[in-house]
This record gives sequence, structure tokens and C-alpha cells, in this order.
Amino acid sequence: MIRIMDLHKTFVDGEGENRILQGINLTIHDHEFTTIMGPSGCGKSTLLNIAALLTEPTSGSVYFDDQLVNFKKEKSLEQLRRNKIGLIFQNANLINCLTVLENVILPMNSGLSNKVKKSTALELLDMVGISNKSKNNVKSLSGGEAQRVAIVRALVNNPKVLLCDEPTGALDSDNSSKVMELLLETRKRTQCALVIVTHDKEIGNLGERKIVLRGGEILGVENDFQAV
Ligand SMILES: Nc1ncnc2c1ncn2[C@@H]1O[C@H](COP(=O)(O)OP(=O)(O)OP(=O)(O)O)[C@@H](O)[C@H]1O
Ligand SMILES: [Mg+2]
Repeated sequence: MIRIMDLHKTFVDGEGENRILQGINLTIHDHEFTTIMGPSGCGKSTLLNIAALLTEPTSGSVYFDDQLVNFKKEKSLEQLRRNKIGLIFQNANLINCLTVLENVILPMNSGLSNKVKKSTALELLDMVGISNKSKNNVKSLSGGEAQRVAIVRALVNNPKVLLCDEPTGALDSDNSSKVMELLLETRKRTQCALVIVTHDKEIGNLGERKIVLRGGEILGVENDFQAV
């Protein structure tokens, strides 16, 4: 579904060029569960942000469903992001002045009626055990609850792929397990592909495909993450 070919990303600052990604080739297949590990600063988030079509590569190609992505065409990028990609970060990044329900409804496709939007949102919130808090302001949620809302928000338009950047990084072990369970169950239910960047070896080892990123390159696809 997402094919990345000979990808390079270089950041330029006052001190010169910083070559972060150096010739990445990676295919994310439909329904596949991929985990990505690697030392801090090796470019995991940069790679995920490029796969999420949020960051333009310095060179190389990204194909989404066999179509070459043109990073200059903001409108088509926007459409792909909205309809095909679900994004989850370490922090829930909810909009503080809105309720739980409003946060979930906000990214929904504008073609839907308000009634459909509301019932879909409530159904999804119910699935993660949080519909009783739909009218609450998101500021009142715990970290684990907020992350569950963020997952629901990422799912509203039935994405083909869920890209997660350290989705449990800010949670205690109990909430971390719950969020992982939810992500795995979501993949099963919706048949989406799942990509998780993590520093947690236990989570990393759950992946069907485990990718090690180091020194700007994919070092290999590991049986387990002992070596990271
Ligand atoms: N927008 C940017 N401008 C300049 N440098 C950047 C930018 N984004 C990332 N970098 C640099 O690129 C490198 C890789 O960053 P990235 O966030 O991808 O690492 P990471 O593997 O996700 O690390 P971590 O595990 O700590 O989250 C870092 O040295 C970072 O400072
Ligand atoms: Mg990161």
C-alpha cells in the first residue's frame, strides 16, 4: 500500500547538512503489522512523517496504492491523509477547548450529516469504553483515556493504515497494554495495516515484520529486537 523507494531526508541548519535518512526502501503491505525500532535520533519519526505524507523527502519516491505521491500537491495530500491514513502520536494532541465528542467529529468527512457523525462517533467511543465521557472536556481525561480518544479520532474515516509514533510512550504499563490491545483489535476488525514506532522491545517484538533503523538506513528485518 505504501511503497518507499530510495528515500533520503536531509535537514539543513546553521551548522550544515544533517543526513537523517539515507536510501530507505520499505513497503507497507495491506493489513500488515510492522514495528520499527532504533536509537533515539535515528530518524524513525522522520520516516513515519514522510509515510504519513506530512514531510516532503529530500529525494526518493513514495507510492500510495501504486500512485506516485506528489508532495507539491497539497490538496491531494490532504485527501489521502484524511481518508486513508490514521495518525497516532505519543501525546494524544486533542483540542483542549472541545469536548471528547467534538474532538472525534472534527476530522470526519464533511459529506456526512451531523446525525450520522454523532452516532458513528458515539459508537466508536463506546467500543473503547469511553462513550460515558463524550460530553466531557478533554482536559478532564487521564493520559490513557485521552490516548483512547486519539485512537478513535484516527479511525473515523476508516483509514487503510494506522501510523503510530510511540503510541504508548507516555503511558504506564497498564494503560500501555490497553492501548496496544486496542490497536491490535482495531487492525483485526478494520483490516487496516498497522505501523508502530516504539522503544519498547516487548511491543516491537509483537510485529509481524520488525524493522531496525540505524544510521539512516534499514539495518534489517529482525526475528526479534535483542540487538537494538
Ligand atoms: N524539522 C527538523 N529540522 C531539523 N532537524 C530535524 C527536524 N526533524 C528532525 N530533525 C533531526 O533529525 C534527527 C532524527 O529525528 P527523529 O525525530 O526522526 O528521530 P527519532 O528516531 O524519532 O528519535 P526519538 O526516538 O528520540 O523519537 C534528529 O537529529 C533531529 O534533530
Ligand atoms: Mg521520534
